Amino acid sequence: MLNLRDNMEFSTWVCLIFILQLFLPMPISSDSSLSTKGFAEISANFLNLAKKPELADWMIGIRRKIHENPELGYQEFETSKLIRAELDKMGIPYKHPVAVTGVVGFIGTGGPPFVAIRADMDALPMQGTVVLVFQPAEEGGGGAKKMLDAGILENVEAIFGLHVSVDLPIGKVASRPGPIMAGSGFFEAVISGKGGHAAIPQHTIDPILAASNVIVSLQHLVSREADPLDSQVVTVAKFQGGGAFNVIPDSVTIGGTFRAFSKESFMQLKQRIEEVITGQAAVQRCSATVDFFLDQKPHFPVTVNSQDLHEYFQQVAGDMLGIRNVKDMQPLMGSEDFAFFSEAVPGYYFFLGMKNDTRGKLEPGHSPYFTINEDALPYGAALQASLAARYLLEFHPKSHFQETKFHDEL
Ligand SMILES: *[C@@H]1O[C@H](CO)[C@@H](O)[C@H](O)[C@H]1NC(C)=O
Repeated sequence: MLNLRDNMEFSTWVCLIFILQLFLPMPISSDSSLSTKGFAEISANFLNLAKKPELADWMIGIRRKIHENPELGYQEFETSKLIRAELDKMGIPYKHPVAVTGVVGFIGTGGPPFVAIRADMDALPMQGTVVLVFQPAEEGGGGAKKMLDAGILENVEAIFGLHVSVDLPIGKVASRPGPIMAGSGFFEAVISGKGGHAAIPQHTIDPILAASNVIVSLQHLVSREADPLDSQVVTVAKFQGGGAFNVIPDSVTIGGTFRAFSKESFMQLKQRIEEVITGQAAVQRCSATVDFFLDQKPHFPVTVNSQDLHEYFQQVAGDMLGIRNVKDMQPLMGSEDFAFFSEAVPGYYFFLGMKNDTRGKLEPGHSPYFTINEDALPYGAALQASLAARYLLEFHPKSHFQETKFHDEL
């Protein structure tokens, strides 16, 4: 999640690796006669397994190792190597590289049905295949889009992803059906006038004043043009220009972000941002160019949770944690490139509680003081494992189970 995105990437990667561990010892029968009670037990068993000291300690060890050497988007070389080494140890086949440093693992028959978990997951003697999506560059680099373009979700019918939350108590999860994270884009504009002496403004065309009016006008997009019930944000977070007390500069650069919860609102904002910047700059005799960085930073779509998967999640998480610990939440204005996945196939994104008051306050994500509560790892791992395992056994349309003969199709 952009501004809400935090340095938690590594912990979800750890969960993902960890889930592998979970599946290996777990004799899950693919016998479709499993009762509802049997399915509920899968969730509970995963959590018990995940909390076992040998598994929890192993997972915490890996998390710490990754944390000792944090790597930026598309430079996760050591992290990727570590993940592959763990996959190798467990004999799990994978594709690499995908989107530079990404890894996609496969557990199961190699045939349909396919279910994916990003940064958390997977399975053994089950019908179907769990696809483990180790994604690079979530922090603004749009790694999900690169992986999607590389075809990693082909045949995948559902994908699950999670994010930790410092506000939600440990042992609780929260999500909602429909839009959960905003679509987001960035813009930067160069507003050009004519520099000169600050005491002789009539000989200049002042881009500082023009940029100031542009910013004020941009604030009217949400307050006057958007439906008050359709949440949107336009923020100018960057203003660069001038360097002296007595010189009017030639140009000013401003930049910021815009957010919305539907494609229509998002595209409308984008168009109006460009019009307002160029139009308002012209009022002040300046010219302006606007860049949306589409080639370097693709817009993140709105993250939309599938209604069907929401019901499924309530069931699985409810069986594991108790339904009163499965909370509804309001959508967040932050954004998340998981949206590229959930735009392509039904997806579900949820938040995992980390707050434990007896351990003191946790600083929020993107704070330099951010710390993780490692007690949350078993919950995340067990949830992702259950979501994938039960999806293949239970939720998936039964017809596909008849035609699973593609064992060498990994
Ligand atoms: C919360 O923290 C305390 C103190 O470290 C610990 O004993 C307890 O088990 C934690 N609760 C959960 C649910 O992890």
